Amino acid sequence: MGVGIAHRFAARGAEVTVVDVDMDHAVASVERVRATLDEAARRGKLDDAEAAKARLAPAGSVDELPEALEAIIEAIIEDVDAKRAVLVTAGTRRPEVLASNTSSISIDSLAEPLERPDRFIGMHFFNPVWAMDLVEVIKGSATSDETVAKTLDIVGFLGMQAAVVNDSPGFASSRLGVLLGLEAIRMVEEGVAEPADIDRAMELGYGFPMGPLRTGDLVGLDVRLAIAEHLATVYGERFEPPQLLRDMVAEGRLGRKTGRGFYDWER
Ligand SMILES: NC(=O)c1ccc[n+]([C@@H]2O[C@H](COP(=O)([O-])OP(=O)(O)OC[C@H]3O[C@@H](n4cnc5c(N)ncnc54)[C@H](O)[C@@H]3O)[C@@H](O)[C@H]2O)c1
Repeated sequence: MGVGIAHRFAARGAEVTVVDVDMDHAVASVERVRATLDEAARRGKLDDAEAAKARLAPAGSVDELPEALEAIIEAIIEDVDAKRAVLVTAGTRRPEVLASNTSSISIDSLAEPLERPDRFIGMHFFNPVWAMDLVEVIKGSATSDETVAKTLDIVGFLGMQAAVVNDSPGFASSRLGVLLGLEAIRMVEEGVAEPADIDRAMELGYGFPMGPLRTGDLVGLDVRLAIAEHLATVYGERFEPPQLLRDMVAEGRLGRKTGRGFYDWER
């Protein structure tokens, strides 16, 4: 997700620093962003890939970010403690807006250790970020109106649309999307239908651009599992991950990123 978010900002003209666990990972991540910018240009979706690529820089730690940036957007693994640690450090850089791309973790819970929770907000992007125009903007109970307004300006700068929601587990999109995905996985588990048929039913029958199983493959089944586990702690049984999902993740069948999930992505 960080690759996609960096892509979108750089393509729209922003200077972007990509932070990862260390400098080697950050350099590799910048290279991935640059490759996606080249690909966008090849497909005629971006005029000047060279200029966009030149706006990207790597950093091996959040400490290395300049002070008072317009925004810092955290997009690390979906883990409360890991996110809090990165966000606390990011907060010391005093950005105007500090955002998390979490898909499911409460914004209020992430805000707890922050010095300036009023400047903290959720910016939930969708995969692939260069093609999906929605940002779910999640207001925490301490998020100031000024931070919301600045965030909406950033969404506009990116040429995207915002759906503004109050903080609640799973927000709007993950709560509904994950529930549908889990039910689709239970249907595969029960032998109701093949994944492609379940997806086709939703695509052609309900006008979904992509069925729930293909969406899960694209998002990453490990990411889906982590969200479902988290939502099950809040909403109970209806978010309990099916055994098939747990087995696929344990086997490394994570979807597109590992080449295999409900679909074979290597063919
Ligand atoms: N995958 C999706 O479709 C999707 C969609 C919307 C939101 N999200 C959310 O975005 C976040 C990232 O998801 P992802 O699928 O990109 O995960 P990912 O595992 O593919 O990427 C995580 C990245 O964060 C880096 N990282 C991990 N710990 C770090 C740390 N302490 N400091 C700096 N970098 C660190 C990793 O090296 C990696 O590059 C999660 O919160 C997820 O819930 C994911």
